[in-house]
Amino acid sequence: LGSGPLTGRHVLVTSGPTHEPIDPVRYIANRSSGAQGAAIASAARAAGARVSFVTGPATVPPPTGVDVIRVETAAEMLRAVEAALPADAAVFAAAVADWHVEGAGDTKMKKRPGEVPQIRLAENPDILRRIAGLDAGRPPLVVGFAAETENVEENAAAKRLRKGCDWILANDVSADTGIMGGSENAVTLIAQDGVERWPRAGKDAVARRLVDRIAAHLATTA
Ligand code: C5P
Repeated sequence: LGSGPLTGRHVLVTSGPTHEPIDPVRYIANRSSGAQGAAIASAARAAGARVSFVTGPATVPPPTGVDVIRVETAAEMLRAVEAALPADAAVFAAAVADWHVEGAGDTKMKKRPGEVPQIRLAENPDILRRIAGLDAGRPPLVVGFAAETENVEENAAAKRLRKGCDWILANDVSADTGIMGGSENAVTLIAQDGVERWPRAGKDAVARRLVDRIAAHLATTA
């Protein structure tokens, strides 16, 4: 490990989408590329941290030099995150599916003429909320994302309270922003003591800025 402002720190990053099986060959997914999470993990590593990178099936490759823990479903992601703790900071950049298919079996659903299968969804664990709410072993700094399409700051501030995390990075993922699946991001950092609007920049630059903020914050707390 090189040295930098995060030397000696352990940073956990979740990234990518999750895939929720319908049967062994079909799944529910979302359009997350995992680009922002990979950029954060890479920046944290470059700053000297040991990085646990818990990633769903993303389209961008994981950065080198980090501990990659590959998962598929939200349930697996939660277990992997719990297993990777303790951490000094945890950044939840994954686009975790909100639901999984109840009773997804291990045999392929048969297509029968005139019959349409009904899929029942059940709630997934909220990983960010779960970890932010830990009594013992809560990372000192817990950061979530809020991908919104309207009332971005207001919704994100409410989300910060609901999830119990320290910071929320809010971004506008409306289709016309090109952010989801794109190479740039425009985020607003929402903390307890204020709101910072960051200029639109490459996901790498956003990641470096976040990592600098994390390092500064950890330096003041311990
Ligand atoms: O609830 P919502 O998906 O809008 O919240 C987004 C934030 O919560 C992101 O940081 C995401 O990684 C995290 N999250 C999670 N587990 C879920 C849903 C969201 O960790 N099941």
